[in-house]
Amino acid sequence: MMHALHKCLLFHLLTCLGQNALGSEIIHGKKVPDKLMLYMASVQISKGHTCGGFLVSEDFVVTAAHCDEDGPMSVVLGTHNLKKVNDAMRYDVKRCKYPSYVNITSGDDIMLLKLSRKAQLNDKVQTIRLPRTNDKIKEKQKCRVAGWGCNKRGGKVVDVLQVAEVPIVKLEMCKKQWKKTKFDLPANVTCAGGPNKGFCQGDSGGPLVCSGTAVGIVSFQNSVEYEHQRLPNVYTDLSKYLHWIKGILKKKNC
Ligand SMILES: *[C@@H]1O[C@H](CO)[C@@H](O)[C@H](O)[C@H]1NC(C)=O
Ligand SMILES: *[C@@H]1O[C@H](CO)[C@@H](O)[C@H](O)[C@H]1NC(C)=O
Repeated sequence: MMHALHKCLLFHLLTCLGQNALGSEIIHGKKVPDKLMLYMASVQISKGHTCGGFLVSEDFVVTAAHCDEDGPMSVVLGTHNLKKVNDAMRYDVKRCKYPSYVNITSGDDIMLLKLSRKAQLNDKVQTIRLPRTNDKIKEKQKCRVAGWGCNKRGGKVVDVLQVAEVPIVKLEMCKKQWKKTKFDLPANVTCAGGPNKGFCQGDSGGPLVCSGTAVGIVSFQNSVEYEHQRLPNVYTDLSKYLHWIKGILKKKNC
């Protein structure tokens, strides 16, 4: 993700400054080893990376609702390198957006994508566990966020999947910090990272992973600096949407 940021800064200084605030040391990412995070999906519009996502069953990828852009959508599974994509890795999808989603600032930023054919689980493609109902994330627990970096608005996407460790931020504290910018956080979110660690724009939809479980979906971050700080990044709290997710997984439809 650090690379993504460098590219952003080099090629799209103005757009990226807004999204990434402080400069090249913000997002301490490193390359994901080949055998890890095999649940990661690249959500694509017209075969270009637009968001992250993660495989939760043979039939469904989870991503953010705000990734629902116009154009033919597909997901790519089974590679960390977006330069190495073949047709067998690409799946057409049906979009199942959370019914009450309005916009990113109002919350409910979650969407399931039904794959047009079952994903073959193997040494390149695996699912990730969802939390159990009422699972509580511990404050300061070390978690990780992964992604391919800046999106097309922010500039270049990185080719190779990057991961960064991010600490969970207590919700009350997070709310307070965001409140200083006159913004009330939506319901059913989790906060992590910031001021020095976090995600880049094209990481939207990717998972927040704690102890091998997907607990959140990358939703948004502050777009302008506040007192020279980045606020904690905001994730959709998956534990609040399990009922909806399980219903769709069971029906295999929405
Ligand atoms: C999002 O939706 C809410 C509720 O409809 C509205 O008040 C708000 O202005 C919208 N925000 C944006 C950025 O469109
Ligand atoms: C989100 O939070 C609101 C307010 O706390 C709650 O009423 C609602 O049921 C939650 N949504 C989900 C899907 O859990």
